[in-house]
Amino acid sequence: MPEMSSKLQSRFNRQLKNVAPSPIRVFDMKASAVPGIVKLTLGEPDFNVPDVSKQAAIDSINNNDSHYSPSAGTPELRKAIAHFMADRYGLKYDPNGEIVVTIGATEAIYAALFALINPGDKVVIPTPTFPLYEAIAAMLGAQVITIDTSSNGFVLSPEMLKETMAKAGDVKAVVLNYPSNPTGVTYSADQLKAIADVLADTDTVVIADEIYSELVYEDHHTSLAKFLPGQTVILNGASKSGAMTGYRVGFVAAPAGLAKMIGMVHSLMITSPADPSMAAAVPVFASEAGKQATDKMRAAYQERRDVLVSGLTDLGFTVAKPNGAFYVFAKLPASQGTDDVAFAQKLVDEAKVATIPGSYFGAGGAGYLRLSYATSMDNIHEALQRITKMLNK
Ligand SMILES: Cc1ncc(COP(=O)(O)O)c(C=O)c1O
Repeated sequence: MPEMSSKLQSRFNRQLKNVAPSPIRVFDMKASAVPGIVKLTLGEPDFNVPDVSKQAAIDSINNNDSHYSPSAGTPELRKAIAHFMADRYGLKYDPNGEIVVTIGATEAIYAALFALINPGDKVVIPTPTFPLYEAIAAMLGAQVITIDTSSNGFVLSPEMLKETMAKAGDVKAVVLNYPSNPTGVTYSADQLKAIADVLADTDTVVIADEIYSELVYEDHHTSLAKFLPGQTVILNGASKSGAMTGYRVGFVAAPAGLAKMIGMVHSLMITSPADPSMAAAVPVFASEAGKQATDKMRAAYQERRDVLVSGLTDLGFTVAKPNGAFYVFAKLPASQGTDDVAFAQKLVDEAKVATIPGSYFGAGGAGYLRLSYATSMDNIHEALQRITKMLNK
């Protein structure tokens, strides 16, 4: 086994000094090693891929779809995505030139930021948030400006945004994720309109990560692109709505000028997505069976959310009822102090329940835990029982 020559230690990209392995993964891996642990950690659907998608992937393999496909994705999938955006959100995107299929939403985030950011550019990110945005922005040498939204129920208000933008000066991009990982909070049409109004007079691009758009419970998802079409890059995909995180299918929908540059970066980075995965995603976006599968999962998540929220509330946690995604962001009971990392570790050690400390999601997250309900109802009941036992000791 070759060992890296020690003289190479200082030869890495200097920007990598600004990033570290995801603390979420590290915490989850350590907790996973505890025998008998109940995990409410990762944002990974526990459902199987819908049969209609499995069959589409099998057919693709049997058809020998084993060649490079168009870099922006197969025409069938781009058409299905255009249908999905029009059908669900009333947005028109041309499959030829305004949609790029990516390797999960993750690659969409990379490609969008890479296409926009020069070293020193300012990127605004409301927090607590999915940590990947900041990591990628940091690797690109961006100056990240965070906005702590905890004082406003984890919703970015137009006032907060306006003030930050005015102070910062030239902001290249704002990254907005809703429904939110980690809070489950989403935005109403009115709230989005108010944000769009702030940005309309600027030359800032909004990267709207809408990967959880199909997991909205009491309402229907509205896309920011409805109010700011010319400046919005929508990121979405099949990972959550199709329960196919491992198939790695995401997409970018954006005005042609933006989609072209993002598509170029994407093409230079990955050439093209995998054929069987793209085939599997088609029914997620454009078939009755796919829609029904998502509807079924949404109903199950909603039931689990209600059980988890009410159980945690009974235990003294403060939870603003999350209306989307599959996370509960719970403030620790007053009796437990505010050290979320210590409390999460205590839950692992004493209750054998794994959650994620809120502070791992940036400013405003300290004193909270993120609990994922993308796990079985049995696990949720068991976790609540164990936490109750620990707190009653
Ligand atoms: C907000 C958000 N965006 C993007 C992703 C990545 O999605 P994908 O698995 O499609 O790359 C996740 C995954 O958890 C997420 O929570």
